Amino acid sequence: MLRTDLRRAIIFGRHDLLRDAPISRVDLLICRNTLMYFDADTQGKILARLHYALNEKGYLFLGRAEMLLSRTALFVPVEVKQRVFTKVAKVGLKERLVLLGQAASPEPSNQLDRQGRVHEVVADTLPMAQIVVDMSGYLISANARARSLFGLVSTDLGRPVQDLEISYLPLELRSRIDQVYRDRRPLLVRDVERPGTDTSGPQYYDIEVIPLVDTDGMLLGASISFADVTAYNRLTRELERSKQELETASEELEATNEELETTNEELQSTVEELETTNEELQSTNEELETMNEELESTNTELEAINTELHQRSLQLDHVNSFLQQIMSNLQPGVAVLDNELRIRLWNRQAEELWGVRSDEVIGKPLLGLDIGLPMAEIAGPIRASLSGTDGHQEIRVPATNRRGKQFVCRLQAAPMAGSDGSHSAIVLMEAVEEPARG
Ligand SMILES: C[S@@+](CC[C@H](N)C(=O)[O-])C[C@H]1O[C@@H](n2cnc3c(N)ncnc32)[C@H](O)[C@@H]1O
Repeated sequence: MLRTDLRRAIIFGRHDLLRDAPISRVDLLICRNTLMYFDADTQGKILARLHYALNEKGYLFLGRAEMLLSRTALFVPVEVKQRVFTKVAKVGLKERLVLLGQAASPEPSNQLDRQGRVHEVVADTLPMAQIVVDMSGYLISANARARSLFGLVSTDLGRPVQDLEISYLPLELRSRIDQVYRDRRPLLVRDVERPGTDTSGPQYYDIEVIPLVDTDGMLLGASISFADVTAYNRLTRELERSKQELETASEELEATNEELETTNEELQSTVEELETTNEELQSTNEELETMNEELESTNTELEAINTELHQRSLQLDHVNSFLQQIMSNLQPGVAVLDNELRIRLWNRQAEELWGVRSDEVIGKPLLGLDIGLPMAEIAGPIRASLSGTDGHQEIRVPATNRRGKQFVCRLQAAPMAGSDGSHSAIVLMEAVEEPARG
């Protein structure tokens, strides 16, 4: 029976020496009369775990009948008689490989060396950096990539991993290793950044810690691999950037498309306006064509009128020349006066008689002419005739012809009514032999 106060300070628990993850940092391990029930290989595996569990200055206490330890380099006796041992801090790689080899098969050690070498060569061909630690936390292998990546040298093999930079850079490994021992499941930590140097940028790793479990379920250690995903990350970032650029381009395209649609709508509306304008122009054109036809018809009518006028003009010319012929052949001088006594016609005999040409007198008042007629005497009878009060008038007056010869001039005035209601007078002038009379 344990004292109650002591019992309260103790935690009891079940622990399978072969399967469960070893408890770490133990000061005193008492494992009496148990190892002796296992064969030599299993004893070796259990001893490796006990070695891992014990502190650097801890003690292992075995049973009286247990003396197998002399075959290993893991422990050294402190008190042989009492079977008290302490652990050897650093164990050579060879011993570790032998220990691991013991887990695989009980082959002779030279065979194990060869197998170990094969494993090393295979590990060097891996596309990622890989290290292996044993249950005691010692580095037992590092492939070529791991050596070059973390600057490991051959003397680092066999050293506690916690003493090496790799145990905390780029990731704190110890707690992860303990976790995979506990869970017996691989653990993957993605995208761990390793700061870059002056010449290179940061690098990124997917770090996987895998528990190494023997066929009989015993934990041998852990493999830690570092897959360089820097290029993958860069590609992912570039892909992301390209995706964003594509999205931007797509948005720009959409905007352009919308603008084009707007422009298209505007163009359609412009086309509609143009069609309307075209229709209006067509209608205007039709109107103009109608007007043109009307003008053509008016023109035809005007041409007909013109032809008729021309014919009338010709007829008038004939009549005119006929009249002029008559006038020329008349013996007396003839003057035709309008209602204001302006001369409208002056025949050749009048020219001969008075010495003034027709073109000099046409449009001028007869009574204002400076010819050899006594204007004061002839004015009254001519006006009387023109007004139509006394009709035909005849007088004889003294006159002087163009050569200065005096003669008696018989002057007859007769009224003439035009078809338009106008009044005019015809005045006949001729020399007579008779003496002048009033
Ligand atoms: C002979 S008894 C020794 C008991 C005690 N230690 C002593 O000295 O009196 C052996 C003990 O080893 C334990 N044992 C056997 N295989 C074990 C294993 N794989 N892990 C942990 N203990 C185990 C048994 O349960 C048993 O209690």
